[in-house]
Amino acid sequence: MSAQNTAVTGIPDGDTPFTLGVASGDPEPGSVVLWTRLAPDPYTPGGGLPTCGAIPVGWQIADDEHFASVRQQGVFDAPAADGHSVHVDVRGLDADRPYFYRFRTGPWISPTGRTRTAPLPGATLTARRFGLADCAQYRDGYYTAYAHLAAEDIDAVLFVGDYVYEYPIDAQGGARRLTGAPLPDFLNHTTRTLDDYRVRHALFKSDPDLQAAHAAHPWYVTWDDHEVENNYAGDVSQHADPVPVFRARRAAAYRAYWENMPLREAQRPTGPDMRLYRRFCYGRLAQLDVLDTRQYRSDQAYGDGWQYPGPQSEDPSRTMTGAAQERWLLDGLRASTATWNLLVQQVAFSRRANSTAAHSRVSMDTWDGYPAARARVLAGAEQAGLDGLVVLSGDAHVHHAFDVLRDFHDPGSPTAAVEFLASSVSSGSDGADRPRDWAVMTDANPHMRFYNGRRGYVILTLTPERVRADFRTLPYVTRPGAPVGTAASFVSEIGRPGLVRA
Ligand SMILES: [Fe+2]
Repeated sequence: MSAQNTAVTGIPDGDTPFTLGVASGDPEPGSVVLWTRLAPDPYTPGGGLPTCGAIPVGWQIADDEHFASVRQQGVFDAPAADGHSVHVDVRGLDADRPYFYRFRTGPWISPTGRTRTAPLPGATLTARRFGLADCAQYRDGYYTAYAHLAAEDIDAVLFVGDYVYEYPIDAQGGARRLTGAPLPDFLNHTTRTLDDYRVRHALFKSDPDLQAAHAAHPWYVTWDDHEVENNYAGDVSQHADPVPVFRARRAAAYRAYWENMPLREAQRPTGPDMRLYRRFCYGRLAQLDVLDTRQYRSDQAYGDGWQYPGPQSEDPSRTMTGAAQERWLLDGLRASTATWNLLVQQVAFSRRANSTAAHSRVSMDTWDGYPAARARVLAGAEQAGLDGLVVLSGDAHVHHAFDVLRDFHDPGSPTAAVEFLASSVSSGSDGADRPRDWAVMTDANPHMRFYNGRRGYVILTLTPERVRADFRTLPYVTRPGAPVGTAASFVSEIGRPGLVRA
């Protein structure tokens, strides 16, 4: 970027402010959000910049990675009040094509990112590919999965939660056993304040593999619990903090999340409220309903763990999405003309019993703890006459593929949909192909067609005829450089839901 085409000053000379990389997100047919955040000193609250005012940041989006053909450019004032984050909502681009983008402030030029707009609503598409990822606890291991995700040939990343974790991180970065400069003591406590969450995002964002995955593809993001606190539910914290105290913490966490993600102004939080559920289309091939099953849910029944279901969990008034989001979802499914309808969401949708007994414990934090809400979604999809419902999920830190049964208590029930649950990027450290409970879980849940306990992600391929999932796994994450492999692949045909090993 030459000094002539974008004169941008305001940041003092010194260290580069582009320590957290660049990102793009929420592609629409002619639009995408470009993101960066200025932080020359990323692990201090304020990022080492003045705590008031704004810093002008030049941006460019071009047809080519050398910026010979710049399509649009401008200057965005990055406010201190937003943690000096930049969210440029670029409009008027062509549909369904790649672009390259970068930022500049003072003498500093950011790394170049590559993004891609979505196809036009009526477009007929032969194939589209997405990466599904979640759960990246920094202290549990390296982000090698993100490095491999960066190299995949995909349209976009679907990230379904636990982008950061609230727990303390020690000077060596836990299982990473870092040998360079120790991490600051400020990271070694549970996040509660805006400064805590901002610095936490900065640490996770400092990772070069994570930066590579953002720079290579646009992301559609949603959160789960750890972006705020483990297993929170609406206004209810895990440890039953007073509601006003927890709402203040949620407001801090949501604000830091918005600042650090490639999200539009429409997603900017107001206090403890943030509209994260939203809908995207890929031509006639796919509708993506990105859900938020955390902010509006009823409190977990019988506590948060694995419990026997009963009247409390089966109470039909319990909700996973809140009434407004549920209505929005079911209306959207009814109106959908897409071949495939993807529910891009956080937690396991299909039943996971932990014994073969008819009355088994299930996880009260997943849809198993909200069976009436799950039944309403499946009934709504059935009434909408959908041929290709695909549920995407994460949270479990293992890979799963499920046939989603209309009635999980009837083994002869027809299959209503398929579900692909992506294992973690790093959470849980190295893992194992067959975790200790592999045999019992596989026996207890015949509709669970796949279970693998390694770290990894899923590559989803949609064509008009079938959906395919490739379960990528890594042999280790507690040291860098693991290769990636494919542990299994499954397909399901349009109109005939049910997984077949490919
Ligand atoms: Fe997680």
